[in-house]
Amino acid sequence: MSENINSLKSTFENELSLVDLTNKEAVDNLRVKYLGKKGLVTDLLKQMGTLPAEERPAYGKLVNELKAFVAEKIEQAITTAQEAELNKKLSEGYVDVSLPGNGIPVGSTHPLYDIREEIIDFFAQMGFEVDFGRDIETDWYNFEALNTPPDHPSRDMQDTFYMDEGVVLRSHTSGTQIHYMETHKPPFRMIAPGHVFRVDNDATHAPMFQQCEGLVVDENISFAHLKGVLQLFMKKLFGENVKTRFRPSFFPFTEPSAEMDVSCVFCGGNGCRRCKGTGWMEIGGCGSVDPNVFKNCGIDSEKYTGFAFGFGLDRIAMLRHSIPEISLLTSNDQRFLEQF
Ligand code: DAH
Repeated sequence: MSENINSLKSTFENELSLVDLTNKEAVDNLRVKYLGKKGLVTDLLKQMGTLPAEERPAYGKLVNELKAFVAEKIEQAITTAQEAELNKKLSEGYVDVSLPGNGIPVGSTHPLYDIREEIIDFFAQMGFEVDFGRDIETDWYNFEALNTPPDHPSRDMQDTFYMDEGVVLRSHTSGTQIHYMETHKPPFRMIAPGHVFRVDNDATHAPMFQQCEGLVVDENISFAHLKGVLQLFMKKLFGENVKTRFRPSFFPFTEPSAEMDVSCVFCGGNGCRRCKGTGWMEIGGCGSVDPNVFKNCGIDSEKYTGFAFGFGLDRIAMLRHSIPEISLLTSNDQRFLEQF
């Protein structure tokens, strides 16, 4: 019996020396042929039952040694075949691991978004509520309730997009004040950031831009409160050294009204090309709420006073970042956006 074992061993060694060691499948076939369920080594083990009992231990030992030998050789051959396969793959598809990978571009927040967040943060800290209002308004909210009757010449201050009869794309965020006053009882403070629309298009005016309205109503609110809040706000936006000035102006919804300027952010107030030599830049309008506006919203103007203000976010962004054209802010041009 032991000759059978020895002869199978040399047959195996012979076959193994002929097998293509780079071929994993060929090596695996050899494994099945010898060690599989119906394999040649397995067969030898099965034959043990036909032997007399006293021969079995010695026989079993020899077959098991052969089995371990075959298993080890096959194992080695499989490793060799796997390495060969890997080397083949690597040589076919050479990968230069020193090349830069495909970068994942990271976006950034839009400068207008940043400024809006900054404004909301500032006023929220002072107890202002935020009301985004609506882009489409009726004539009442955009004009009439704001003390601007149909034939009032101040309607020409803003070239409005008219939709249906009595419906407009809001030309300013001031109308949100009216909605707010209709639904809230004083005292209150609120801001209303949002998009506004005007028939206007040049380097510094766009048909759509963003504004932020503000309104404070309480007993004994004076123009001094307005100046205090807005001065603080300008310092927040443009730094501690910025100066503010209030010029008398006219808006139908405030009386008295003012236009607020800040010292030129480019020359610090000395006068330059950007501020046309004046040292000042216009930032927004403001004033004490006109009693007629209170009346339109059912608020007692004998008891309450208030102030309101409105300014453009695009203009602030342009000053902040020295942006020469307002249209860049909505152009979606990646070369522009990547700078922020
Ligand atoms: N609504 C004005 C505009 O769009 C800005 C403004 C001026 C708002 C004075 C106000 C204000 O609340 O009091 O030009």
